[in-house]
Amino acid sequence: MQKTILVTGCAGFIGSNFVEQFSQEFPKTIIIGLDDFSTGRIDKIREIKKQTKQFYFYKGSILDQKFLDKVFKKHKPEFVFHFAALPRVSYSVEHPLETTLVNIGGTVSVLETAKKYKVKRVIFSSSSSVYGGAKKLPTKESENFPDPKSPYAAQKFACEPFCKIFSELFGLDTVSLRYFNVFGPGQYGDSPYSTVVSAWLEDLYFPGKKKSFMEGDGKQSRDFCYVDNVVRANILAMKSSKKFNGEVFNIAHGERITVNEIKRLIEKYTGRKLNLEKRPARIGDVLHTQADIFKAKKWLGYQPKIKFEEGLIRTVEWFETRKK
Ligand SMILES: NC(=O)c1ccc[n+]([C@@H]2O[C@H](COP(=O)([O-])OP(=O)(O)OC[C@H]3O[C@@H](n4cnc5c(N)ncnc54)[C@H](O)[C@@H]3O)[C@@H](O)[C@H]2O)c1
Repeated sequence: MQKTILVTGCAGFIGSNFVEQFSQEFPKTIIIGLDDFSTGRIDKIREIKKQTKQFYFYKGSILDQKFLDKVFKKHKPEFVFHFAALPRVSYSVEHPLETTLVNIGGTVSVLETAKKYKVKRVIFSSSSSVYGGAKKLPTKESENFPDPKSPYAAQKFACEPFCKIFSELFGLDTVSLRYFNVFGPGQYGDSPYSTVVSAWLEDLYFPGKKKSFMEGDGKQSRDFCYVDNVVRANILAMKSSKKFNGEVFNIAHGERITVNEIKRLIEKYTGRKLNLEKRPARIGDVLHTQADIFKAKKWLGYQPKIKFEEGLIRTVEWFETRKK
């Protein structure tokens, strides 16, 4: 029988990159995509449909259990990649209830349906935000007990034990991947929560009313992970013959880069000069992030193959050819 996978949030940044790359690597696998377009883009779905014959899309919310039931019953997916979320820290601060319903309620709803239809494994998109501030760098999963500092971070953290509980109580295999600062093609920079990479490139290629800014002295550093590495980690988590039972993994580049260096590289690869407004450092902002990715390397065979600079070049290319 033909393999079937289900991807929630397939119209979003990471979900759409995942579907495009997955379909190239596994052209015979049937891909079922769901999204309610709360932040995702319909034009992306049209593009994917043109490229991929084996892709079937359903518009609907992960909060709608009847909808989920209908899709799972019809397609009986073997693996579920759960990207759907309202993934914005600032939005979660303004809308704690709405984001809790989607990010926790929606995840439990996906887990429950996956359990009912005997899915082999659910791969959950968690976030480095669960750590709060970095206690030890590079940050290991085991040495840094989560200390969420926003509703979004608390929601992501809450889902990890839910995944584990579904494995322990019901035998549904689950794994949580904690992504660190993902960037790449398909990430639009015109929202308040985009990364500096996408926000600054947006300003260079599609300048709007809002001016780009630099907070603090630019010496703060982040572990930026190119989106293809995240896609690869998801595929490795699917392919593994291990039982994960809710195990958690950092998925990152494993190196950090300062904001000043990002500015320099963007100017180098675009040939354009960034005029950034100077702003004071954000109170409570984490100064540095850097993941320890040893566990993902050991268990999943994960390697962040695309380094920051190569990822940036590919992202610049996407901005160069983007229509709007
Ligand atoms: N981008 C990052 O740096 C990053 C870092 C850590 C974790 N993550 C996680 O990775 C996942 C994907 O993030 P992204 O950056 O691609 O975000 P995104 O906003 O681009 O994609 C999320 C998708 O989920 C969809 N969605 C939201 N609510 C839904 C609902 N109720 N029903 C169905 N679909 C719904 C949106 O329409 C969107 O297409 C999220 O779970 C996010 O929390 C992202």
